[in-house]
Amino acid sequence: EGGRDLVGQRVVVTAAGTREPIDPVRFIANRSSGRMGFAIAAEAARRGATVTLIAGPSTLATPSGVTRVDVETAADMQAAVEAIESMDIFVGAAAVADYRVAAPADHKLKKDGEPLRLELVPNPDIIRGVAARADRPFVIGFAAETEHVREHAATKRVAKGMDLICANEVGEGRGFDRPDNALLLLWEGGERDLAQADKRHLAGEIFDTYHQIKQD
Ligand code: C5P
Repeated sequence: EGGRDLVGQRVVVTAAGTREPIDPVRFIANRSSGRMGFAIAAEAARRGATVTLIAGPSTLATPSGVTRVDVETAADMQAAVEAIESMDIFVGAAAVADYRVAAPADHKLKKDGEPLRLELVPNPDIIRGVAARADRPFVIGFAAETEHVREHAATKRVAKGMDLICANEVGEGRGFDRPDNALLLLWEGGERDLAQADKRHLAGEIFDTYHQIKQD
């Protein structure tokens, strides 16, 4: 089913959440399963692309035909992305932690009954960095929103320099850690509503939309 319409395209996908250490045994993480990014990588490979999947911690199996690079922190993920010199399509599907602990302890922190304060500093925006490259690929990103989905996603698309943003409404058992999802795709001069479907199907719709945008 479907053609090999990405032959010759170098596709890079970030997926899953990042993990930001507090000390050697503890970290800050989020609920991302990595399913959407892994489904996108699998679909790109099926369509004939050369695919690199840069994944935060995830128990999901590597899709066949995909080169996987495992990373832990946002900084690791950024370094892995920057190490790839040229790409045709970048898909930022990772739930990158917005903050990291400023100075992770090199020993296990002991509790003493007192409040513990952690200083958090902002992480670099990986997708923004890719979109700012001189030789920029087609940039696809995601936005998980709880309200005003279209408006927030439209603003985010432009602010981060994305060509296409895939927005989903999260909360009450929607979006994260589920096999299915509903997405609103927004690009310059167009949009497309994708009804609730499994993530592999949505991945196909995203690449179909990519071809449509390239044709316009
Ligand atoms: O700002 P927000 O986290 O909602 O943006 C989501 C999009 O930006 C996703 O495509 C995500 O992969 C990407 N992102 C990133 N680096 C960050 C934060 C988000 O690449 N530090």
